[in-house]
Amino acid sequence: MEIKTAQLHPLFCAKGKGIDMRSDNSPEKISALKSILDEFAVYAAPHKVPLTNEEHIAFSSLLGPIARKSAPKISGTGNRLPFDEIVDQSNLDGENKIFQNGDKRLAYKRANRQWHTDMSYRSNRATWSLLSAHVVPPDGGETELADMRAVYDDLPEKMKLSLEGLIAEHCYWHSRVLGGGPEPTSEERATRPPAQHPLVHTHPRSGRKVLYIASHVRGVLGMPQNEAMGLISELLTIATQPKYVFSYKWAVGDVLIWDNLATIHRGTDFDDQRYVRDMRRVTCREH
Ligand code: OGA
Ligand code: MN
Repeated sequence: MEIKTAQLHPLFCAKGKGIDMRSDNSPEKISALKSILDEFAVYAAPHKVPLTNEEHIAFSSLLGPIARKSAPKISGTGNRLPFDEIVDQSNLDGENKIFQNGDKRLAYKRANRQWHTDMSYRSNRATWSLLSAHVVPPDGGETELADMRAVYDDLPEKMKLSLEGLIAEHCYWHSRVLGGGPEPTSEERATRPPAQHPLVHTHPRSGRKVLYIASHVRGVLGMPQNEAMGLISELLTIATQPKYVFSYKWAVGDVLIWDNLATIHRGTDFDDQRYVRDMRRVTCREH
């Protein structure tokens, strides 16, 4: 069955009309949705009422295997949402209270305001992320995304050649500290070891070449550290030029699906001491 879409950006991002993730779960619908994602890389589905956690997990599991919490939580994190499949992206603690400035759990969340792709620090990479909006602030808090297929296509040939075969090392803690979070303890560090991935990969479904970088990158194999970080920063600057970026303005009930193997994204600022922003993510993985 066809899904009606409107394109939101000249390069990527589609918005669905009339898809309901509670009921539109036939294999035909899922396969049509995957085709849309292969073309547009990002898909927004508005719903009048946010999906329940169970509905969110059930729909996501139709797309592929789901990532579960692989590690004990960062110390002090209360379990607001008792589901291993859900990443709590809100600014709320286990008692539904706003994290106060200075709380390291908030500092680590704010690190998501750097450009990244989800879970690139795992060897089994994230495919689609499904982020569901339960409460949105009146101002700010958009999610920005960049099309890394178009970015790669536009790179000068010389640069494409120089990137060929390079392997980057991605580490969760690298981006947490870079984003203003505290140094992890060695126990925390051990819960999320780094992973290595090619800087350029061929998308397993669309066959398009993609630049695979993130603020998680802490080095490039065989390259001196300052040269490697200079390269990553140069590539991020190229990739996040306005022509590659779409900014998604949230409404309660929206579910935004993005392809982590084709895009990068970041959260944007909002007054997280004043307003609640309750976003919940389920993440599919490669295998
Ligand atoms: C995420 C993420 C950004 C945002 O859920 O993976 O990076 O805008 N979110 O909440
Ligand atoms: Mn993310």
